[in-house]
Amino acid sequence: MNELSGNTPVPGADAFGHLGRSTQQIRSELGVEPVSVAAIREPAVYALEREKIFKRTWLKVATEWEIPEKGDYKVKEMPVADASVLIVRGKDGKVRAFHNVCTHRGNKVVPTSGFETFGKSRANVLSCRFHGWVFSTDGSLRSVPMEDGFGKLDKACLGLREIACDIWEGFVFINFADKPEQSLAEFLGDFGKLFAGYPYAEATSAFRYATVLECNWKVALYAFSEGYHVPTIHAGSLPGFRGIEHSDFKLIGPHASSTIYGLGMESAESTAQFAGVLHADAEHGPRPDLLPPGINPMRRPDFQFELPNIFPNFLIHLAAGCGYPGIAYFTHQFWPLAHGRTLWEGVNYFRPARNAAERVAQLHTNAIHRNAWLEDTGTMEDTFTGIRSGAIDDMFLMDQEFLIRHAARTLDTQLAR
Ligand code: FES
Ligand SMILES: [Fe+2]
Repeated sequence: MNELSGNTPVPGADAFGHLGRSTQQIRSELGVEPVSVAAIREPAVYALEREKIFKRTWLKVATEWEIPEKGDYKVKEMPVADASVLIVRGKDGKVRAFHNVCTHRGNKVVPTSGFETFGKSRANVLSCRFHGWVFSTDGSLRSVPMEDGFGKLDKACLGLREIACDIWEGFVFINFADKPEQSLAEFLGDFGKLFAGYPYAEATSAFRYATVLECNWKVALYAFSEGYHVPTIHAGSLPGFRGIEHSDFKLIGPHASSTIYGLGMESAESTAQFAGVLHADAEHGPRPDLLPPGINPMRRPDFQFELPNIFPNFLIHLAAGCGYPGIAYFTHQFWPLAHGRTLWEGVNYFRPARNAAERVAQLHTNAIHRNAWLEDTGTMEDTFTGIRSGAIDDMFLMDQEFLIRHAARTLDTQLAR
């Protein structure tokens, strides 16, 4: 029975509550022709992607719950834009983003270590360690040692260089354009509305895995964008999947999603296997009611997760509340470091564990995902080497790989602008 019955119908849904397209509709809309690998193989395409996409598009760079208190900051190194980005919560509680670049002579205001650095400003100021210029967490230049020695200095014009920053559902996005063509709300459009309302912000326990892969960023993105590989590459970590069903395909602007079911995974226990969660009782079982309306509207018991792909490099896996206690989701992001080098980040999110049993269950989930993600990432460098060799010119994509087809087409369109 459709558990949504009695609820307000979801606008645009079919008689069964599905919002997306069928396989046939997807085939007629996106085609079935092979897709060229040139965009992966050619360094010149990567140069274009940097200018036309990564320096002009909204990019998720942080979450609000990473910097919950006033003065908390995160610095993200972003070689794709030659940038070090400071995301900081000001004294007024607002999250802002700045180039982590001192306006005196260009030193980093916050010294960094690795791709992500976290910290807390003291007294809501940040001081450059080179000569001691002091900035407020709202970016303004507050004080300059030996200011008289400059002869003339307009401090009001020498604040940190701000980067456009906005928030969707607790995810912090930036846009490097001086004047972004769209607001974040416009960029996400109906896609953002469709996936709003999930209790993302309650899952503040985050476990992050990351590695640098010698492959183009799209090889990594594409490997995580389809379920066709699950019964084969994940035979070790996820035994029991006879296959994967992608359905209810949603294409909204540059973004896309589909619902993923696990064939042969009809019981709650096996459904939870993908999320790696051991169900102890009803409290810790799946909570399909937490999903946004219209996702798995028939409440199929073999539902695994919804896979929203936010252009260009952010994947969210919305599980049916598998996890202690009651919600869990995970995300992937793919940051180009060079044409053939990518930083992959996978993060599991849970509500904070309330006791040792819940903590163990979360660690169990992390371990299963780590094993599966090792299997995933283990293909990527070989795939890229194969494509670079020139041995193949095309990818042959089946229905379950439609997110790849959609992303490749969207990237082509954006690069042609
Ligand atoms: S470069 Fe920052 S104070 Fe001189
Ligand atoms: Fe996988």
